[in-house]
Amino acid sequence: MKYLLAFTLPALLPLAESTPHPLRRTTYGPQTSSHIDEVLAGSRPCSSSAVVIGRETWAPGNIGVFWGARFRDELVDAFDGDVDVQGIHREDYPANLVDYHIGGSDTGADSCARMVDEYVEKCPGARVFVTGYSQGSLVAYKCVNRVSAAARAQIKALVVFGSEERLMDDVQPVPKGIILKNYCVENTTAPDVVCTETLTSGIELPNSVGDVVAQLKETVASLKNVVTNEDQLKEVATIPALLIRDLPATLPWIAKDVAQGKIRRWMILPPHLLYGFNGMTTDAAAWMAGVA
Ligand SMILES: *[C@@H]1O[C@H](CO)[C@@H](O)[C@H](O)[C@H]1NC(C)=O
Repeated sequence: MKYLLAFTLPALLPLAESTPHPLRRTTYGPQTSSHIDEVLAGSRPCSSSAVVIGRETWAPGNIGVFWGARFRDELVDAFDGDVDVQGIHREDYPANLVDYHIGGSDTGADSCARMVDEYVEKCPGARVFVTGYSQGSLVAYKCVNRVSAAARAQIKALVVFGSEERLMDDVQPVPKGIILKNYCVENTTAPDVVCTETLTSGIELPNSVGDVVAQLKETVASLKNVVTNEDQLKEVATIPALLIRDLPATLPWIAKDVAQGKIRRWMILPPHLLYGFNGMTTDAAAWMAGVA
């Protein structure tokens, strides 16, 4: 394993250097952020804001290393440290592919809502944000619909990245009083088709389960083109096995969606991988810090 990393990292560096979007940092803090747990345990004082994070499918820790670790660091900067950043508990939200077809993990959404409720009780007056990337965005939508009325009044915004919400069977509303901030790669040459307003021309939808799986595998393989640090490189190495683990239970749902013309929700193309790299997290963190 050590040998493999040492061998592949230099080979990938030229790719990282040619990344079109300059990074403020290429290494970030840990893949886990548990400030709300600490506040609830009494070992950390309440901040004036809190952000609950739903990580993307297969991401490690409770926030992940492709999008979450960078976003957490940027949030802490943008709020001058006066923010509690927390990932949804891994034991409640496994972020597997199987839960995706139901519109995001239900146990993850319940866990998120419970955490927001408890935080608001402990820190009355705090501004709360719920955010997520990919499946994590679906969980975030469900979460804001499951919190108590008191907690809902303290949620300022639902901030989603690469959200498939509009393509799911049971589309979740955005509760009144909560602002929706929706980040999507709308590049017409290379769009993230799970969240674009329309299906831009030039993208051909597959019409067989085999084609969908081939596309998923291609996107997973393209992850190596976006890594910029060793944590990400380590995650890339874990993903093929996770795909193999989750595919058998997921294939029947993909087949059903192919039959019913709902295939776009499985069109996870390489542009869907860009949210930790294209500056959208930086923009979101600044926007959130400015929400009164
Ligand atoms: C849009 O996608 C194309 C093809 O990948 C890329 O060359 C271009 O830089 C992208 N444009 C933006 C604004 O990201």
